[in-house]
Amino acid sequence: MSKVKKTTKIPSDIVLHKFEEFHPKNIRWDLSYKKMFLTDQKRSKAIYLKDGDKYMGEIILYVSCDNVVYLESITVDPQYQGQGYGTLLNKYAIEWAKRKGFTILTGDARVGASWNSLKSLGAVEVYINKNWSKTKEDYVHFYLEIK
Ligand SMILES: CC(C)(COP(=O)(O)OP(=O)(O)OC[C@H]1O[C@@H](n2cnc3c(N)ncnc32)[C@H](O)[C@@H]1OP(=O)(O)O)[C@@H](O)C(=O)NCCC(=O)NCCS
Repeated sequence: MSKVKKTTKIPSDIVLHKFEEFHPKNIRWDLSYKKMFLTDQKRSKAIYLKDGDKYMGEIILYVSCDNVVYLESITVDPQYQGQGYGTLLNKYAIEWAKRKGFTILTGDARVGASWNSLKSLGAVEVYINKNWSKTKEDYVHFYLEIK
């Protein structure tokens, strides 16, 4: 993990598409929507992990008010999954939110690695979204106090 670098530079179209492919079909963002979202720098923040030139993972946050940040999306390339990089991205997101003065991170996390990672960092379950976007998967609505 020592070679891995953090960047906020938005990667090429091909990489943006690639990350979407790792999500269930029903919840993939259209690339034009994703780009519009990412270029709205006042409202969003994206953090990437890179190993040399290779993009390994992304996390996208959305800001809608003064105290709360919404975790919109997190993805780690399957080649790198299960090695702690998702949790590293969540930690970077929390560090960024803390620096900016936000006090709550919230969102809807897919049951499994996504939710496990956030839970290990102190996230609290609010309720379960059953059959999220007709994916037949449950997502946990959560909040995490940023201290
Ligand atoms: C969700 C995702 C970003 C997690 O990244 P990751 O690098 O694989 O996760 P980590 O290795 O950091 O593991 C995070 C936690 O989940 C656990 N975990 C790892 N793989 C798991 C799996 N397949 N099933 C259940 N738990 C798992 C780890 O033990 C760890 O828990 P801990 O902190 O209690 O030890 C990644 O799996 C992914 O991109 N999945 C596809 C897209 C997706 O589902 N995104 C989230 C919905 S928007």
